[in-house]
Amino acid sequence: MKHLVVGLGYVGLANLAFLSSNSKDEVVGYDKDEKRINDLKHDDYYLEEAKLNETLYNEKRRIVYTSSINAFKDVGAFYIAVGTPSKEDGAVDMACFYEVIKDIKEHANHDAYVVIRSTVEIGTGDKVNALLNKDGKYHFNVISLPEFLSESSAYEDEMNPARFVIGVDDEDALTFIKRIRKKSLNDGVPFYSMSHVSAEMSKYASNAFLATKISFINEMSRLAESLGGDIVDISNGMGADPRIGHSMLNAGVGFGGSCFPKDTKALIYKGKENDIEMAINEATLMVNITQPLLFLKKIEKHLSGVKDKKIAILGLAYKEGTGDNRSSPSLYLAESLLKDGAILSAYDPSKTSRESFKKGFSSINVCPSLDEAVKGVDAVVFLSSSKEFKEIGETRLLKLMKGRYVFDGRNIFSTEHFKYCSYISIGRKDSLR
Ligand code: UGA
Repeated sequence: MKHLVVGLGYVGLANLAFLSSNSKDEVVGYDKDEKRINDLKHDDYYLEEAKLNETLYNEKRRIVYTSSINAFKDVGAFYIAVGTPSKEDGAVDMACFYEVIKDIKEHANHDAYVVIRSTVEIGTGDKVNALLNKDGKYHFNVISLPEFLSESSAYEDEMNPARFVIGVDDEDALTFIKRIRKKSLNDGVPFYSMSHVSAEMSKYASNAFLATKISFINEMSRLAESLGGDIVDISNGMGADPRIGHSMLNAGVGFGGSCFPKDTKALIYKGKENDIEMAINEATLMVNITQPLLFLKKIEKHLSGVKDKKIAILGLAYKEGTGDNRSSPSLYLAESLLKDGAILSAYDPSKTSRESFKKGFSSINVCPSLDEAVKGVDAVVFLSSSKEFKEIGETRLLKLMKGRYVFDGRNIFSTEHFKYCSYISIGRKDSLR
């Protein structure tokens, strides 16, 4: 069988690497972006995903990369993994997705499975089924197979999912997924088959729930700070209950990335469309919007205003281990600090992140090393918990900095870590020196 993966971002490439390394079938990756295809053909992998890139490299003789629409011929299974960003009003922008559906309708030349991996507007699976199978020559069996990959471990998550959520119309579709995911089936990974709507909602509800967990702990951090508690202790105390769990319970400057903000907004939008108040999702988003604002206020308070203060922003990507700056708290903080007159330098261990940050902020000195960013500043602001940041010693900071203020938006240090610098974090007592 020929498998065609359409859209070669995190999801598409992880799907492609999985198919190639787990079957003897023909595997083709298609993307409209010719540069991306050319780079992939020359082993130039643009994502900072070590395991994924290694697998793609090892499989290079098996995978065909192309931008040619001819790839849509003779396909037995299409996997759609194109982007579905947010529109201004929170609705899901499905334009790229429906272009692919149009291409399938026009160019496919026999029956095929159409597996939806993109996070799509709820109702899409049924709609696509109707669109593709209306007075067509061929039958397309539509399968909703939402992905649950995190950036920085995209391939590992694709290989070892906690569960499969599968929206299907018939037994044949389910059998197909069980066949291609045989190893997981044998390993006892649960397969939940359901309607398309339920599968699509499972994806949104999962992301919204995780986002809510983060906003919940962030709300608690505000109270802890006022009452003299320590949010890290509180989070440990809560997370030890297996019904709660430690994961996604770290307070910080808020969640970013291409998924949580977009998916909570999409649910709120769907609620509005259906006259249902999505109060919890609204609150999750509100806490997340105000969280960096409160952190900014703390920076302003401790530095007695930021005008003409030299500040280093450390951690530009929305989380450690990725080069992705989408909806990163660093964007909001940089913009606000600049507006208030601060002189900013910036650094992220990821070159991709630094380069894309530079494009958005020409007046910020984006540095190629941590030391250069920190040199001569009055304060440093940590916004991600990268290993490089965790390992920075106070002696090194003291040598480089002019001032003595450390703001930690991810609680990466203990409140006792700094002996000579004032340390201000989230939901914990300030250690002022
Ligand atoms: C998220 C989900 O975790 C994946 O399951 C999902 O498949 C993916 O979205 C998607 O829809 O494609 P991702 O956006 O890569 O994955 O990142 P996460 O690791 O979940 O982190 C999201 C944000 O939450 C980051 O800004 C992170 O710093 C923040 N976060 C995470 C916290 O503030 N506290 C935590 O305890 C955990």
